[in-house]
Amino acid sequence: MKLFLDTANLQEIKDVVSWGILDGVTTNPTLCSKENIPFEDLVKQICRLVPGPVSVECVSTKAEDIVAEARKLSLLAPNVVIKIPINIEGLKATKILSAEGIKVNMTLIFSPSQALLAAKAGAAYVSPFIGRLDDISHHGMELVEEIVTIFENYNLEAEVIVASVRHPGHVVEAALLGAHITTMPYSVMEKLVRHPLTDIGIERFLQDWQKVTHK
Ligand code: G3P
Repeated sequence: MKLFLDTANLQEIKDVVSWGILDGVTTNPTLCSKENIPFEDLVKQICRLVPGPVSVECVSTKAEDIVAEARKLSLLAPNVVIKIPINIEGLKATKILSAEGIKVNMTLIFSPSQALLAAKAGAAYVSPFIGRLDDISHHGMELVEEIVTIFENYNLEAEVIVASVRHPGHVVEAALLGAHITTMPYSVMEKLVRHPLTDIGIERFLQDWQKVTHK
């Protein structure tokens, strides 16, 4: 499974790139609003750091405006993927953009039917928001399972990005379900690597190493 960071923070991205396991980045208007860097500069800097796709969200609401905005954003860097919220205007724009070879990540997916339509319109990625469903007492992972099954049933090429991830368990469940990608905040990415028994084990090995004699 590919691992993406869900952030617009350059330091977080640099950090995880240095770990050697980062496959891509997803951003959204909320994440970009937290950085004090002009939007287009920010996107260019992120795209230079990341060895993979970087999702950048359109804020236009009419299909023709979304298309114009997406074409402009896609010129910022070769690895830009255009994020478009799912609705009828978004579908129309996705159909046009995907025919032009511009990759689209359809976002704010909360039902399997939305994911099916996004894939049919030519989206390269669909992003179900798991945590926000859990927040309202639904089972976010059931949505992932349904989408993965539907895409397998019909050999749909769109990749599933499990998004709105809150904890490492979400990442493991997504992997068990066969989702292509999980995108997560830096805090979750960091937790994926940690285990208290590993820390205790390292500590004990280092202590015992002091007792080993060397000639
Ligand atoms: O970037 C999309 C998504 O991952 C946002 O997650 O935490 O705002 O529900 P959250």
